[in-house]
Amino acid sequence: AKLLLLHGPNLNLLGTREPEVYGRDTLAGIDAGLQATATAAGHALECLQSNAEHVLVDRIQAARTDGTAFILINPAAFTHTSVAIRDALAAVALPFIEIHLSNPHAREPFRQHSYLSDKALGVVCGFGADSYRYALDAALRRLPADA
Ligand code: DQA
Repeated sequence: AKLLLLHGPNLNLLGTREPEVYGRDTLAGIDAGLQATATAAGHALECLQSNAEHVLVDRIQAARTDGTAFILINPAAFTHTSVAIRDALAAVALPFIEIHLSNPHAREPFRQHSYLSDKALGVVCGFGADSYRYALDAALRRLPADA
């Protein structure tokens, strides 16, 4: 099956951005590891990072007709602001998992509300780059091996 991994704003800076909060792994390193895992399981993982809300909305909309079976998304700051990303995910009606490197619930109050969580299949947060790995594992377990 085709899986889509979306990363929101500032995640292009992973590795150097507040490493005490977000860890030292780079986005390219995280994506490469996840793609290897997906490929080994017989699936394909496409990764996209954008700092622009409309790019993420457009990519989610395209997933409606491009054969995507599952979406993994770290919406980053858009988690706490974006009705547009919420609406796009609701429109495509594909299962999705919300991911965070940090645990937003242990941080500032404004990070404790997500516009996506109640629509997500599940949320994985607080495990650094491993949050992505656990989310991918959960997604793979929910896909047929040959799809
Ligand atoms: C984040 C948490 C968000 O609150 C923050 O705006 C981010 C990253 C995380 O992965 O921990 O940019 O989504």
